[in-house]
Amino acid sequence: MADLATPFAVRTAATLRVPDVVKDGPLPLAEIARRCHAVADPLGRVLRFLVHHGMFTEPEPDVFGPNDASNALRSDLVDGPRSWLDLDGAVGRADLAFVELIEQVRGHHPAYAAAFGRSFWEDLAHNSQLSESFDTLMETKTHGIAPLVADAHDWTRYAQVADVGGGKGVLLAELLRRYPQLRGVLVDLSGPAGHATAYLREQGVLERAEVVAASFFEPLPARADAVIICDVLGDWDDEDAAQILRHCGQAMEPGGRVLIVELLPDTDRMATFTEMDLRMMVYVGGRMRDLDRTQRVAAAAGLSVEDFTPLDNGYAIIECRSAP
Ligand SMILES: C[S@@+](CC[C@H](N)C(=O)[O-])C[C@H]1O[C@@H](n2cnc3c(N)ncnc32)[C@H](O)[C@@H]1O
Repeated sequence: MADLATPFAVRTAATLRVPDVVKDGPLPLAEIARRCHAVADPLGRVLRFLVHHGMFTEPEPDVFGPNDASNALRSDLVDGPRSWLDLDGAVGRADLAFVELIEQVRGHHPAYAAAFGRSFWEDLAHNSQLSESFDTLMETKTHGIAPLVADAHDWTRYAQVADVGGGKGVLLAELLRRYPQLRGVLVDLSGPAGHATAYLREQGVLERAEVVAASFFEPLPARADAVIICDVLGDWDDEDAAQILRHCGQAMEPGGRVLIVELLPDTDRMATFTEMDLRMMVYVGGRMRDLDRTQRVAAAAGLSVEDFTPLDNGYAIIECRSAP
């Protein structure tokens, strides 16, 4: 449980795309190193360690080949784990901030900024490669959630939805495709907002969509019958989450709703939930919440939770209205 060599060796091989390079069969180390833009001796030591931990084969000295474990990290695997482990990508890099977990727990400083000199969101804003990789990871993740959200709620009762912190627009595109009466607005920072316009166009729904680059820490430049906030509140502490929800509430048309989509704790998924909670703490100083805590944050924002629809994947739609 406490070993660090294995995860770092696996992530090094995944980042260098060694599983792709050897996918068709064993190759000499020098050739693997050449194709991976790496140095042969240290790479060989990483691969030999991994062979003895179940990943790759070494059929003869200094020749390495694939096995099931290495193939699981190929980049052509749809929804595979490689991009989450890529040390050059936003989440693989953010994992490196776990070295500062001890100082965060001691109350000395937030982990990510201590590791990288600025906050996660500032880092994305300054580095387009990181920002693109984050938006792509969120796109992959939300492909798994969007159809469930689209099925689980009665969207026919709305004319206009807003997806706040909507990323690339996967959820909004799914809703607009399924419900032709809907129009939608996506609000996010300028990087993801730029990607969202292209994505919504590709999905053929841009004529019913608007994309606005704005911060949800300011009053939102949009109004809607349903204001969706999906996988966003976990990125923030309670005070910030309440401020975001307050702005969502102010953007509701009379009689409208704020729909919070978040992973909730459930007895079968506590390992995932608590891992997400640690990741949120380390990456962005946020936290995962149970329904009670979400209700308290919503109340601080002038909203009351009226309904709650669990989804099959551990997420739920938490429906809020203006508190009476
Ligand atoms: C975890 S992602 C979720 C994205 C999307 N809702 C989804 O589920 O795929 C959080 C989103 O919040 C956005 N975000 C972060 N800070 C923001 C801010 N101040 N104003 C608006 N959006 C922000 C990020 O750009 C990112 O798209």
